[in-house]
This record gives sequence, C-alpha cells and structure tokens, in this order.
Amino acid sequence: MASFMRSPAGNALFAVTRQTLTGPKYDRQPMKRQIWMAVTLMVIGMMLTAASVDPGLPAGYWDEPQASSGGPPHNWSQLETDLRPESCAQCHSEQFNSWKKSLHAHAYSPGLVGQFPNMGHAEANSCLQCHAPLKEQLYTGPDAMEKSITLRLKHPQGFSEDADLESPVLPLAHSGVSCAVCHVRTWQRFGPPPKSTGAVGKVEGAAHGGFTATRAFKSSQFCASCHQFPQSMAINGKPLENTLNEWKESSFSEGGITCQQCHMPDRKHEFRGIHDPEMVRKGLAFKLTQSNTSARLTITSKWIGHAFPTYVTPKVIVLADALDRDGKSLRSWQWDIIREIEYDNGWQEKRDTRLMPGESRAFSAADIPAAATSVRYRVLVQPDHFYKGTYSDLLSGDMEPDAKAHIQKASKLAAANEYILFEKSVKRVGSSSP
Ligand code: HEC
Ligand code: HEC
Ligand code: HEC
Ligand code: HEC
Ligand code: HEC
Repeated sequence: MASFMRSPAGNALFAVTRQTLTGPKYDRQPMKRQIWMAVTLMVIGMMLTAASVDPGLPAGYWDEPQASSGGPPHNWSQLETDLRPESCAQCHSEQFNSWKKSLHAHAYSPGLVGQFPNMGHAEANSCLQCHAPLKEQLYTGPDAMEKSITLRLKHPQGFSEDADLESPVLPLAHSGVSCAVCHVRTWQRFGPPPKSTGAVGKVEGAAHGGFTATRAFKSSQFCASCHQFPQSMAINGKPLENTLNEWKESSFSEGGITCQQCHMPDRKHEFRGIHDPEMVRKGLAFKLTQSNTSARLTITSKWIGHAFPTYVTPKVIVLADALDRDGKSLRSWQWDIIREIEYDNGWQEKRDTRLMPGESRAFSAADIPAAATSVRYRVLVQPDHFYKGTYSDLLSGDMEPDAKAHIQKASKLAAANEYILFEKSVKRVGSSSP
C-alpha cells in the first residue's frame, strides 16, 4: 500500500476557519494639538468597542500560518521573541506541563518523518500542514528536510521537557503542534477571553504586548483545520477525518459541549484521546449479562462527541471466550469496531462498524458449549492499527537508512501502544464448578 493519505490536505482544507479581524488599529502618526482631544475620545471609544466586540480570528488564521514576520517588535525581550515552547513555558508552565505529554507535542513523529524521504520535501510540507504547519516549521528545501530527519534521530525529544532554554536549539518543526501553531500570528498572541474578566478584543498584559482575546478559541470549529477533511475528499460519503461533522450531528453539539470541554477540561492542555485507556473508559459504559446458553456485553458510547473511534486508523476488537473449568477456550467470538479503508486505485471503504455518539450495541455469545463453566469478555484497543500495516509495507521495500531507523522505531511504538480496555468473566448460570 502507498504511504498513508498522500497529499490529502489541498488548499480547500484551510479555508474552513476563516473569519475577519475587526479589532482596532493603533495609529502612531504624530498629531496636531487641536485634534488631540477628539482623537483621545475616539481612542477611548475604540477601546470600549474592543472590550465588547469579539474580533474573531484574523482572516486566514489557518491559511499558510506564520508566527513571525519581519523583525520582532523592537522593545521586546529575547524571551518574548523566542517562539519555542520552552520559552512560553517560562511564564505559562501549567499549559506547557500538560501539552508536553500530549500527542500534539509529539506530532513530528518517527512514523511521519520516516515517510518523507520517499516523498520529497514539497509533499512532506503538505503533511506538515497539520503536523507542524507554521511557515517557520516548513522545509525550505530538500537539504533542510534531510538535515532535520537526521537531527530528529539524534534528539528523540523535539524540545526540552524541562523547558531548559539552554538545551540545543532544534528546528521549531520538531515541537510539532507547538504553542505558537495555535496561539501566535505575526508576533501577536491570540487566546480565549480571560477567565477572570471574560473580556474580548485587545487585552493589555505584562508580556508580548498583551494579547487578542476571542471566543473562537472556545468553539469546536477551532480544531477543524486539522481534524476535519473537506467533503470533496469523501470516501463513501465521509471524509477520512470527519470529526467535526460527527460532532455536529451528535447531541453534544446541541448541548453546547465542545471539543475543548472534553479534551481540554478547565482549559488544561491535555488532548487525551484513544491512546489513553482512562480517557476511553470515561467515554464508554459496559454491561455484561448472561443466560443459561448465552452471554452478552453491551457497550454504550455515553461521553464521546463523535464516532468511536473517529479516525480510520484505530481498531477495537471485542473478544468472547467460553472457558472450561481449566480455563481452556472451548469456543470464541470476535467483533471489530472499525472504519476500515483500503487503497485500491483510490481509497475504498470496506466497512464501518463504529459506535456513533449515544449508540448502544450488544455483542452476544450464543450457543455456549455445555462443558463451558464461564464466559470471558475482553476489549482490545489498537490505536495505530492502520499504521502498523503501513510501516511493515515500507520496511519490506528499499529504504534510505535514516528513514528506515525512524520507521523501525515507529513500528515498535505502534505495537507498544496496544492495550486491554476491558476484561471480565461471568460464571455460567447453572454451572456447578466453583
Ligand atoms: C515573559 C513571560 C511570558 C512569555 C515568555 C510568554 N507569555 Fe504569554 N502571557 C504572559 C502574560 C503576563 C500574559 C497576560 C495574561 C496572563 O497573565 O496570563 C500572557 C498571555 C498569553 C495568552 C492569552 C491568555 C488568555 O487568557 O487568553 C496566550 C495565548 C499566551 N500568552 C501565549 C503565549 C505563547 C504561545 C508564548 C510563547 C510563544 C508566550 N505566551 C510567552 C506572559 C508571557
Ligand atoms: C488534515 C490534517 C492532516 C494531514 C494533512 C496529515 N495528517 Fe497525519 N495525522 C493527523 C491527525 C489528526 C492524526 C492523529 C489521528 C488520530 O489519532 O486521531 C495523524 C496521525 C498520523 C500518524 C500516526 C501518528 C504519528 O505521528 O506517528 C502518522 C504516521 C501520520 N499522521 C502521517 C501523515 C503523513 C505521512 C501525512 C502526509 C502524507 C499526513 N500524516 C498528513 C492529521 C493530518
Ligand atoms: C491545538 C491548539 C493548541 C495548542 C498546541 C496550545 N494551545 Fe493554548 N489554548 C488552546 C485553546 C483552544 C485554548 C482555550 C481553551 C478553552 O477556552 O476551553 C487555549 C488556552 C490557552 C491559554 C489560556 C489559559 C487560561 O486558563 O485562560 C494559555 C495561556 C495558553 N493556551 C497557552 C499555551 C501554551 C503556552 C502552549 C504550549 C505549551 C499552548 N497553549 C498550546 C489551544 C492550543
Ligand atoms: C495544527 C493542526 C491541529 C489543530 C489545530 C488541532 N490538532 Fe489535534 N492533532 C493534530 C495532529 C497532527 C495530531 C496527531 C499527532 C500525532 O500523533 O502525530 C493530533 C492529535 C489530537 C488528539 C489525540 C488523538 C489520539 O489518537 O489520541 C486529540 C484528542 C486532539 N488532537 C484534539 C484536538 C482538539 C480538541 C483540538 C482543538 C482545540 C485540536 N486537536 C486542534 C493536529 C491538530
Ligand atoms: C463528549 C466528549 C467529547 C467531545 C465533545 C469530543 N470528544 Fe474527542 N474523544 C472523546 C473521548 C472519550 C475519546 C476517546 C475514545 C475515542 O477514541 O473515540 C475521544 C477521542 C478523540 C480522538 C482520538 C482519535 C480517534 O480515532 O478516536 C480525537 C482526534 C478527538 N477525540 C478529537 C475531537 C474533536 C476534534 C472534537 C470536536 C469536533 C471532539 N473530539 C469532541 C470525547 C469527546
């Protein structure tokens, strides 16, 4: 199979979150005395407006995003002009300490960069549109790409986990979906309205010239540029990533429960998902029941704002075993929860058995053999199921040595990510064994 999702991004993807900035522009022209008063009043008026009108995100926030441009504001300290997450951490340690454990911080991953030498830098940049999208993160040419891929092997961490500013300075791409990706454009900081005041618009602050507060950060749409493909890329009616649409069709959207409320509780930068067993358990309810000849596990999606799982890469396996008194399996059953796709002259959907928000499904083991004394249910999660196949395909072909080293690493990581989500046995009704 070809590498996963070649050039899926396309420009249309980034037209999604465009909004217009209507905030004030501060005029620094010298002014005549007689109009001083009028201008002062006007400025006060503008500031009052700014405090009540939400400016939204600047137009094209996700369209070729750039965190810096030209020289930095002349009166800023070196720390304020440093875009690395280690630098933000000096003042925002709480966000840094959560974010550094999230997959966003590790999006410049071995499984990603190991595929790049086969593609060339231009196509690799199309992948970076979600994995490290700032202009400051994209490759300027083939040499920059090769250098970065080699450097990534030497420094498996894309940044200093202790926020040590003296650590070797790595390319900003290595910190993946970094702080500046979501918060900085042309040097300015953008964030949600402060919890204390709820103010929107330009907010003064003790560093980096304050910031612009907008409720756009609280909207599910904020996550769409990377977690929702355009409808034009649909396979069997649904894009490979369809998370925002799935959310819109769920009762969570109606109830105003956004992506952030589940994935950033209390504004914590956790972004926990299917790689985190505790998060997945929070989303599901399990109920195991039985009769003389059958057993059934009912799984309900109770707190997941999209399909379980939302992406095409994980696989969830439900297994049941009828066991005899020695624990030997006499009969077994298996069901898969997956949206399975296959590349065959374009992407095809083979099946979609995912659990939709609110859905309950029973997995029934019927006709249990007479000698069975118990039935055991297990639910296995393989978060990177699809990629495991991609990696073994790649490794079976010719690979450049650095790329191969990355993919070997990715392959091990993918296997190590698998876990048992649920395991429970019930004694068979009427069975005489202890
Ligand atoms: C020298 C300290 C300092 C550094 C370095 C710094 N900040 Fe800030 N930041 C502040 C202060 C002070 C505020 C004002 C509000 C507050 O107290 O949180 C602020 C506010 C913000 C806000 C708005 C918070 C809100 O309520 O919406 C964001 C977003 C932000 N910073 C992002 C960043 C990012 C991203 C970086 C690194 C590229 C960074 N900051 C570096 C001190 C700093
Ligand atoms: C539209 C945004 C987007 C684009 C473009 C994109 N990805 Fe991803 N990618 C994601 C998201 C989101 C995930 C996480 C999926 C999940 O777990 O839900 C991901 C996960 C991955 C993973 C598994 C996790 C890891 O980092 O090891 C690999 C490998 C990967 N992508 C490779 C690629 C490659 C190669 C390209 C370019 C051909 C690409 N991606 C383009 C959004 C994107
Ligand atoms: C994937 C996008 C994303 C990344 C990456 C990200 N943030 Fe945020 N950040 C957000 C969103 C969205 C909110 C608002 C959440 C809400 O209001 O529920 C936010 C809120 C904040 C706030 C305001 C917190 C508060 O309690 O008021 C600060 C400060 C901040 N982020 C700093 C950072 C720093 C520093 C980093 C890197 C260590 C970072 N962010 C990485 C999306 C991001
Ligand atoms: C700039 C692109 C971008 C934005 C914006 C973004 N994400 Fe992500 N997100 C990614 C990528 C890429 C990954 C996969 C990282 C990896 O594993 O390589 C990811 C991974 C995740 C995961 C972990 C998935 C798993 O498999 O466990 C969650 C949860 C998540 N994002 C939620 C959010 C939420 C909520 C928002 C909005 C507040 C958001 N993201 C905004 C690019 C983005
Ligand atoms: C009601 C809570 C809730 C809401 C709302 C929600 N999620 Fe999730 N999300 C979860 C839970 C729980 C999981 C873990 C189970 C799973 O993987 O589906 C998860 C998993 C994920 C994953 C992991 C990958 C995968 O294939 O499942 C991503 C990515 C993600 N969410 C993104 C988002 C985005 C983007 C939004 C908003 C459009 C959102 N989520 C809304 C609860 C929620």
